[in-house]
Parts: sequence; C-alpha cells; structure tokens
Amino acid sequence: MGFPRERPRRTRQSDAWRRMVRETHLTPDAFIYPLFVVPGRAVRHAVESMPGIFQLSVDEVVKDAKAAAAAGVPAVLLFAAPAHKDARASSATDPKGLASQAIAAIKEACPQLLVWADVCLCGATDHGHCGHVLPNGAIDNDSSIQTLAEVALNYTRAGADAVAPSDMMDGRVAAIRARLDEGGHAGTPIVAYAAKFASAFYGPFREAAESAPAFGDRRSYQMDPANAREAVREVLLDVQEGADLVMVKPAGPYLDVIRRVRDAVRVPVVAYQVSGEFSLIKAAAARGWIDERAAVLETLTGIRRAGADLIISYFAPQVVQWLRA
Ligand code: PBG
Repeated sequence: MGFPRERPRRTRQSDAWRRMVRETHLTPDAFIYPLFVVPGRAVRHAVESMPGIFQLSVDEVVKDAKAAAAAGVPAVLLFAAPAHKDARASSATDPKGLASQAIAAIKEACPQLLVWADVCLCGATDHGHCGHVLPNGAIDNDSSIQTLAEVALNYTRAGADAVAPSDMMDGRVAAIRARLDEGGHAGTPIVAYAAKFASAFYGPFREAAESAPAFGDRRSYQMDPANAREAVREVLLDVQEGADLVMVKPAGPYLDVIRRVRDAVRVPVVAYQVSGEFSLIKAAAARGWIDERAAVLETLTGIRRAGADLIISYFAPQVVQWLRA
C-alpha cells in the first residue's frame, strides 16, 4: 500500500468538489451595515480614514438605507453625531434629536429594513465618554445606565427595531429591558455589545462618529484585550439580564472569543468587523498590496467559521452584491 493513503486533496481538485465540501457559507441575511447621521440637509461628507463611508444628513442617510435594502442587506446599525453635546447627553434623550429623526425617516422610507439603534452616550456628551463623568473624572456607572435606558426608550419610540447598547456599563441591559417593558415595548430586542474590548481598531470610527474621549481612555469600562474568560462572563451576564443577541467586538483579532461565546450561549452571536479592520484592508488594497475582494471575503469567512451568526461590517452592501452576483 503506497503512502499517503489519505489524500485530502481528492476533494479539492475542482470547483464543484470544493463547493460541495465547503463547511462555512456567507449569506446576505447575516449582514448589518453601519450608518452615520449628522445634522443638516444634503450633507454627504466623506470620512477620510474610511474610503466609501460618509457622514450623512437625515435626507441622505435615507438614500443609503434604501440602497442597502435594495441590495439585500437586512439591517442597518445607526450612529448619530448630533451638533449639541453636553454632560447629560441630552441630544440622545430628546425625542426630536438627530438619531430619533433618522430612525423615523428610515423606517418610513423602508419599512422592511431593520433599524438597529446604537445606544451610547459618547456621541452626545461634550467629554466623549460613554457614561456620565464624576467631578474626579471617574465614570458613574449607576447614573449612566439610567440615562442609557432613557436613550433606548427614546429610540424605540422613534421606531427602532432593536437597541444596541455599546457603552459597557455594568447592569445596563437589565436597566434597558426594565425601561422598555414599562414603556410598553416588551417586544423590542436588545443587541448587547457584550464583549467589547478597549481596542486600537476603533480609531477611524471616532472620526466618523465624532466620539473620541476628550480626556483619558475607555479602559475602565471596555475590556482588556487579553481577557477571553472574562468575555464569556460578560456575555453570560448580559444574557441573564435579558440580551436577545450578544456581540463580540472587534471581530478579526478576537476569533477565539467568538468561538468561546458561540459555545457558551444559545442566543445569536453577532461579531463587529470594526472601522480599523475595514480601513486596513482599504488602505492596503488602494496601494495594490492586497486583493480587496479576496481579503474581505476571507476575513468574513473566518469570522463566520469562528462562530458568528451575524456580522456587522462596513463592507456589507458590497459583500451582499458579490454574494448575489
Ligand atoms: C461607541 C462605539 C464605538 C464603536 C461602536 N460604538 C467606539 C468606541 O467605543 O470608542 C466602534 C465601531 C468601529 O470602530 O467601527 N461606544
């Protein structure tokens, strides 16, 4: 008997074989596209560090939401950068605030498209932190979660199909669930940014969302990139508090965390391929150093293979087009 007897290459010899034995598939239904809304009319301002991504006024964000829906993207994730910023994030709790206007406008224009509203304080606070800041500079967890719950109720009333708290305060999922239920919105799901790491890969996003902290950093609330066991703990807490979906963020550098989380819970797992992951590929592709399409599909396949059911990606409309072509 000759060596080798096992030849894995037998089922790799043609495209038909490779398709048949493929273990992981990308489907358009798994993608969520982030959108950034800013004040004004007819504003379409390019985010320099994210080629192809724009800050959009409400009228323009509706156009991109429609285009994403027409391409076959099932959901968008909305971020707002209101003009007025103060210590209490009042633009985010205002029923006539920027995010609420955008949610209502998108839902009116494309009722089938799911609108997930990012719930955080950083885009609406003058200090740019995700919670309230105490006089000594510390973040006040327990007053922050009350405001976050108010923001979530506000966005739900505006028509959001889901609220996605990204602040990483302790207990915010329970606080939001309670407030939504009292407000008559027991049917609105919570997508918890459950394991969100203090990452260098959020840099480009902070330009798009105008949400960089004015002092300090986010390491007292976002997770230490070294901790996978703690990520599972965070996720289990959020599920206990009522999260309907849980998220791991960023995605690419945290594939092991995605796998552990997928194995630990029964709810859908969402992974966020963040701005820095997007910009790295764009920058290398622009220089001809990498094949953009192949690199994008490979990163997304890796994220799926790791265990993500759903993926938030700035490549979403493009990928959905590729998958349907
Ligand atoms: C806000 C928020 C951030 C991202 C999503 N929501 C930035 C941050 O925490 O500083 C990052 C998304 C991205 O980089 O694409 N809390």
